[in-house]
Amino acid sequence: MPLIDRYKRSIEYLRISVTDRCNLRCIYCMPYDIRPVEYKSILTYEEIVRVVRIAARLGVRKIRLTGGEPLARKNIQFLIKEISNIKGIDEITLTTNGVLLERYAEELKEAGLSRVNVSLDSLSPEKYREITGGGSVETVLRGIEKAYQLGLKPIRLNVVIIRGLNDDEIEDFALLTRHRDYHVRFIEFMPGRGNNWTVDKCVSAKEIRGRLNRLGVLQPLPFRKRESARYYRLPDGKGVIGFISAVTDHFCEHCNRLRITSDGKIRPCLFSETEIDLKTPLRNKAPDEEIERLLRLAVQLKPEGHRIGIEPGHHINRPMSKIGG
Ligand code: GTP
Ligand code: 5AD
Ligand code: SF4
Repeated sequence: MPLIDRYKRSIEYLRISVTDRCNLRCIYCMPYDIRPVEYKSILTYEEIVRVVRIAARLGVRKIRLTGGEPLARKNIQFLIKEISNIKGIDEITLTTNGVLLERYAEELKEAGLSRVNVSLDSLSPEKYREITGGGSVETVLRGIEKAYQLGLKPIRLNVVIIRGLNDDEIEDFALLTRHRDYHVRFIEFMPGRGNNWTVDKCVSAKEIRGRLNRLGVLQPLPFRKRESARYYRLPDGKGVIGFISAVTDHFCEHCNRLRITSDGKIRPCLFSETEIDLKTPLRNKAPDEEIERLLRLAVQLKPEGHRIGIEPGHHINRPMSKIGG
C-alpha cells in the first residue's frame, strides 16, 4: 500500500537533513545562539539508507538531501551512491549553499546525483557576506558554473527575498535566466525560530512578479502539481523564473513530502509541532515493519496545511538549519 494521507495526497518525496551544521550563518536560518546536535545523535549513513530502502518500498521516488549544509558532512558521495542504487528511487537531489560545490560537483555527479538546488541570496559580494555571515559569492558562483558544465541540471537557484535587504536585486536575479537555462526561484521569507520575521519584511510572490514586468511580460508555464514553485519565462529567456509563495499562497494542497531531521525525527510537515522518533527504534534494531509503521503514522499525521500568513503568531518551531528547509 502506497503512502496516502488523510487528505488523499500521495507521499513520494522524502527530504532528509543529513546534518544541522553549516559553514555559513544565514540570518534567516541560523540564530547565533544555536547549539549543534551531538554527532552521536545524528543518523548514520547506514541508518539513512535503511530508511530510504523501506520508504522506497512504500512508494517514495524522490530524495532530497538537505542540512544545515549537506556538503559539510564527510563523504556525502557515499550516501548518494548508496541511495541511487535503491530500487524505486528515480531522483536524488541536494539543496546546498554552494560553498563546497566547486570542490565536490564532479564526485557528486559520479555518485549519481541527479541535480542540485543552490541557495543564493545576493550577487553582490558585500551583501552576500552580510547575509551569510562571511561567505564568498565568488566561490558559490564558481560552484554553480562547475555544476552547470557537468550537466547537473536544471540548476535551481533559491533566492529568499527580504525587504530592505536584497529586494533591490530582484531584476538582476531574473536576468540570469536570459542567457542561461537556470531556474531562478524567488522564495517568500518564512517565519522561523529566531529569524526576526515580520510581515513587512516578507515580499510576496505577487509583488515580485509585478516588479519584473519592467523586463517584459512573464509567460506562465503549465503548473505541475507537487511542485513548490510556479514557473514563468521572460519573453527572451532561456531559463525560467519560479515563485515559492510559502507564506501568501500555500501549496499544501499538493504537498507530497515528508521530512527527516538530522537527529532522526520524522516531521510530517515543515510547520509540524509533532515529530516521530525514528532514531531510537533504528538503534534498537527494530524490524522493517516497525519503521514502516512509523512512516505510515507520520503520513497520517500530516496536517491539511499550515496557518502562516493566515493567523498571526504562527512560525516554524525549530531553526530551519535543523529541519533542512
Ligand atoms: P525542487 O524539487 O527542485 O522543486 O525543490 P524544493 O522546492 O522541493 O526544495 P528546496 O530545498 O529547493 O526548497 C526551496 C524552498 O521551498 C525552501 O525555502 C524550502 O523551505 C521551501 N519548501 C520546501 N518544501 C516545502 C514545504 O513542504 N512547505 C513549505 N511551506 N515550504 C517548503
Ligand atoms: N524562509 C524561506 N526560505 C528559507 N530557507 C531557509 N530558511 C528560510 C526561511 N526562513 C531556504 C534556504 C534554502 C532552503 C533549504 O530553504 O534558502 O534554499
Ligand atoms: Fe546554512 Fe543554508 Fe541555513 Fe544558510 S540557509 S545557514 S547556507 S543551512
